[in-house]
Amino acid sequence: MDFLLTEEQLMLKEMVEKFAKDKILPVASENERNHLFPTEIIKEAGELGLMGVAYPTEYGGAGMDFVSYFLAVEAVSRYCASTGVIISAHSSLVCDPIFNFGTEEQKQKYLPGLLSGQKIGSFSLTESGAGSDAGATKTTAKFVDGRWLLNGSKIFATNGKEADVFILLASTEPEKKTRGVTAFIVEKDTPGYSIGKVERKLGIRSSSTAEIVLENVELPAENMLGELNQGFKISMITLDGGRLGIASQALGIARASLEDSVKYSKERYQFDQPIANFQAIQWMLADMKTEYDAAWLLTYRASLMKDKKMNYSAAAAMAKLKSSEVAMDAARKAIQIHGGYGYTEDFNVERYYRDAKITEIYEGTSEIQRLVIARDLLK
Ligand code: CAA
Repeated sequence: MDFLLTEEQLMLKEMVEKFAKDKILPVASENERNHLFPTEIIKEAGELGLMGVAYPTEYGGAGMDFVSYFLAVEAVSRYCASTGVIISAHSSLVCDPIFNFGTEEQKQKYLPGLLSGQKIGSFSLTESGAGSDAGATKTTAKFVDGRWLLNGSKIFATNGKEADVFILLASTEPEKKTRGVTAFIVEKDTPGYSIGKVERKLGIRSSSTAEIVLENVELPAENMLGELNQGFKISMITLDGGRLGIASQALGIARASLEDSVKYSKERYQFDQPIANFQAIQWMLADMKTEYDAAWLLTYRASLMKDKKMNYSAAAAMAKLKSSEVAMDAARKAIQIHGGYGYTEDFNVERYYRDAKITEIYEGTSEIQRLVIARDLLK
């Protein structure tokens, strides 16, 4: 599908692929087994411009587009899906809303550090009682004596343990539900702000997923992001972009599953011949490739629509829905092709299988993506 890409996009893809293969792959499985956040890799990714691919150079970004961003997240996730989501959550869920809804002062203050990767971002929307029903937030923000006072707790914040800057959603007028939620920018050292439980997870283990606890956190008025009570819409618009990032991550996992399976099926001999000679294997490979290409094209389309500033909510939901289900299926087939060895840690396919599952869950489950697509169809 390279014929759809510009010279600049192809160069970026090649550069990220090389970086991920040379630097990320050698440590990916070890970091994953030890639940280690890849601090040095993220620093290097920042130096290469990967923490701010699609944002203007005047704020410290790489000045490229969202198709490039999708290619970068896919290439990184091909070798390590944990690193892919660290970059994606940071870029789509933190840099994007600050760039889109921040005041000029907020952009000047936060974007240079974030886009260069010197600072890491995390997005705190989900709560124990507010998952798919994201508007049911119980965390409150009250305006008292010229300052915001925040109380509550958030869960499942990607990058939560390492982040310096958080975008956090709180209820400012609970009776208005989704129309009474406001977004805030919170820095990690703010008194009353702390990291709670850090999750032990099935996959993406070298990215952190943490609880955030807020006990009388005081914020100056200027830390409100966007307008009062517009936070739910800000999070929905932000998640449209986030879903592109997760679609790209899922594509990386699907491609890894396919490429490893092609290689293995040519090397593995049974019945005196490579297993690639058997139609049972060939059909699995053919289906994996066809589904991957379909998911890639949906993700390319949604990224292009974002670049063209079109309404791409349903397109992003389709890209994420398809790519995540393709990743899960490709990883399952990859283990099947690898047989007993695929079930061991000697091969990477067991990691792909565990990593793929989350792409059907976070930033909106597959059921929520179907709901978004159906609502768009029936409106
Ligand atoms: N763009 C702009 N506005 C949008 C929008 C979008 N994509 N989607 C909804 N809105 C607006 C609606 O137009 C509506 O506006 P009005 O108030 O003016 O009428 C308002 O937002 C409320 O919308 P709904 O009535 O559709 O809200 P709902 O309560 O029915 O919820 C939902 C809709 C699609 C189910 C939504 O709650 C949703 O996406 N849920 C999933 C949440 C999610 O993805 N969570 C992931 C969290 S992040 C994460 O995973 C962790 C991480 O770090 C990776």
